[in-house]
Amino acid sequence: MLKMVHFEISGKVGLVTGGASGLGLYYAKALLGKGAKGVTLADLDPKVGQQALAEIEKEFGENKAVFVKCDVTDYNQFEDAFKETIKAFGNIDILINNAGIMNDSVWDKEVDINVKGVINGMLLGLDNYIPKHKSGAEGVILNVSSTAGVGKYGCLPVYVATKFAVHGLTLSWGLPSHYERTKVRVVGICPGPTDTPLIRDMACRNLGDAYEKIRQEEVKVMKSQTPEQMVPDVMRVIETAPCGTMWLMEGGEPAYQYEMVDRFEMENKKYLGK
Ligand SMILES: NC(=O)c1ccc[n+]([C@@H]2O[C@H](COP(=O)([O-])OP(=O)(O)OC[C@H]3O[C@@H](n4cnc5c(N)ncnc54)[C@H](O)[C@@H]3O)[C@@H](O)[C@H]2O)c1
Repeated sequence: MLKMVHFEISGKVGLVTGGASGLGLYYAKALLGKGAKGVTLADLDPKVGQQALAEIEKEFGENKAVFVKCDVTDYNQFEDAFKETIKAFGNIDILINNAGIMNDSVWDKEVDINVKGVINGMLLGLDNYIPKHKSGAEGVILNVSSTAGVGKYGCLPVYVATKFAVHGLTLSWGLPSHYERTKVRVVGICPGPTDTPLIRDMACRNLGDAYEKIRQEEVKVMKSQTPEQMVPDVMRVIETAPCGTMWLMEGGEPAYQYEMVDRFEMENKKYLGK
């Protein structure tokens, strides 16, 4: 039986990458809905950022959020987002590494944002800012992988690879050895298709029908959900999930822990040639 933890979001400070729209904005609002002291939306477009801030001000009042123009692939810009967060709210307790794209036609950019962006967040959040500037006994980093980070999709092999990478980073930086030295709980989520611009604009390699046929077949069996269905579980992961665990949330069903098979405990191994 998994031993759950208890982390209070109330009074804490969060930084959400890709926080100005899509799921990131839902996460930022959900943190504030749980009584967070403040959130930073770290995202690309200041205009979109200002709209998000206006929405947040209407819903939660003044001085609850700041926008920082930040491309997560740029370490210095990402570091500025941490500095601005501490300037605005005094602390940083929660990082949500959420920024990502799903577009295999620009695969190198996709790798940069989805993988390098998360690594930048881990280097800054885990190895530097959260241990030094958390307001309580523990900080949290939530990494956003995907059902594509635990399965196979022929229509988006590079996106799948980036989300497997996020999965591996979360399991490895989520080991007790890192928690002991940092007191930062590293956890991850694997959402299934969720109705946002990302899923509506998904793009495969530009090879005409070749990838389009595969996409159509794979999309048919996907179980979709709304952000409203999964966001409460995302907050529960932040509040209760043990360090180094991954949580799958798909089709509006309750989140469940996704565990990789441990090769040392594998039964019925299929040996080559036997
Ligand atoms: N929507 C889904 O079906 C789904 C499913 C599983 C995982 N995810 C993951 O959830 C995350 C958010 O997805 P979404 O659906 O909200 O997407 P979205 O496209 O609606 O929003 C993504 C946000 O990230 C920002 N962003 C993109 N590149 C950035 C960069 N370099 N630096 C900073 N910000 C950047 C965008 O400006 C945007 O605000 C992504 O990592 C995505 O892979 C989404």
